[in-house]
Amino acid sequence: MNDPSTEPIKNIENLLDQKQQAHTEDLLEWLRIASVSSDPQATDRVREAGRWVENRFQAAGLEVQWIETQGHPMVYAETPAVPGAPVALVYGHYDVQPPEPLDHWITPPFQPDIRDGNIYARGATDDKGQVLTHIQAVLRLLETGQPLPLQVKFLIEGEEEVGSENLERMLPELADRLACDVIVISDSSQFAEGQPAITYGLRGIATFELTVQGPQQDLHSGSFGGAVRNPGVALCQLIASMIDDSGRIQLDGFYDDVLPLSEEEREQFAALPFSEADFARSLGVDALAGEEGYTALERKWARPTLDVNGLTCGHQGPGVKTIIPAVASAKLSCRLVPNQDPEKIADALERHVAAHCPEGVRASVERDHGAPGLVASLDSPYVAAAKTALGAAFGKPPVMIREGGSIPIVQKFQETLGADCLLLGWGLADDNAHSPNEKFCLADYHRGIKASAHLWRELGKLKPEQS
Ligand code: BES
Ligand code: MN
Ligand code: MN
Repeated sequence: MNDPSTEPIKNIENLLDQKQQAHTEDLLEWLRIASVSSDPQATDRVREAGRWVENRFQAAGLEVQWIETQGHPMVYAETPAVPGAPVALVYGHYDVQPPEPLDHWITPPFQPDIRDGNIYARGATDDKGQVLTHIQAVLRLLETGQPLPLQVKFLIEGEEEVGSENLERMLPELADRLACDVIVISDSSQFAEGQPAITYGLRGIATFELTVQGPQQDLHSGSFGGAVRNPGVALCQLIASMIDDSGRIQLDGFYDDVLPLSEEEREQFAALPFSEADFARSLGVDALAGEEGYTALERKWARPTLDVNGLTCGHQGPGVKTIIPAVASAKLSCRLVPNQDPEKIADALERHVAAHCPEGVRASVERDHGAPGLVASLDSPYVAAAKTALGAAFGKPPVMIREGGSIPIVQKFQETLGADCLLLGWGLADDNAHSPNEKFCLADYHRGIKASAHLWRELGKLKPEQS
């Protein structure tokens, strides 16, 4: 009971309990800054959100660097070096997705509201609330006056939601500063409420805008319909030609580089407590759909997809307007699995569009950002340390999962920094990330802070050469 090795952690747990109110207020403050990275009108607010976190680090006496990029800035901070102990790099993002559609929010997205133990605001779970857990844990540990058992570096960027292209470009010059043994990222979810998870795989992504151009201007559909090809219909036909009835994507070569799921991994997925029927119900759909021959978890974690993210064509206002629209466009994205190359997928999409575009319209593809997928090793001492830390904070050992989302820079980190990756999600599947009424459960926030404190202690016990 009086095991001296647990004394410091008890102290920090007490301190974290005392500071809950202050931690909540910090998050509320950060969430009030509407840092939508994709909105050219929001540049100042994006910077302000960066400054907010920079100030936190500065006030706590960390070594801080404000890093300008060709786009939104990044904030770097580090605690003092600890010889003989590993170096951890916490990565996260302070930018958020656009909040639209605004009329679907119960309370405004940038006026955070606490209801039923949740904070509702854009960015609450993705990623301000989650990355702040590590910042709070480190700042409180420093306040105790005891040295941290390892060096923690932070890189908090403002362009994750738009593809992290500037960070990727600058990574070679930043590599020395970011040198580390393990990268810690909390920007995903628990497997289920109270069931912690270590995520060892993420999907990659390739994004596009497909435009179908018809007549030089909108035409009266009575005078011209039937004689001129409708770009809206042509766009739908083009998209429909990309996926067959069994959910297989028809782009030539699309599956060439896909790493097949091993039987062992399929068994591990199947052993997780997951009900497809409950999952469908929770989303308000009467059936799940996707590639034939795979379970829902397999499809969303380890199989590639092609999706429509947005469609624009013709009259969008109230009432009827009888026209043949001049143009139709679609925002498309493919989720990729490790080993698929976003560039190759973009080439395949362009070839498909060129080969299938009907006569009488012109189709063009504009490439947006892309990023490869990731699988991380599970047998590192860092994973073992994370298991202990999560077990202590959640009272239950974590399960090993993959996730379907993408964090564009992680695979580049792995490659350039040669460090292991720990993806520890504190969110929940129903947090409404990227969606109206995004939330983060306050209990998860405070538990995340504790889990982070445990993690630093466990990682601090390792020697860097153990990796
Ligand atoms: N936090 C997410 C990534 C994520 C989502 C990881 C779900 C695990 C589960 C991240 O902020 C994100 O949304 N990434 C984008 C990247 C894209 C804009 C390049 C994504 O996945 O759409
Ligand atoms: Mn995120
Ligand atoms: Mn996101």
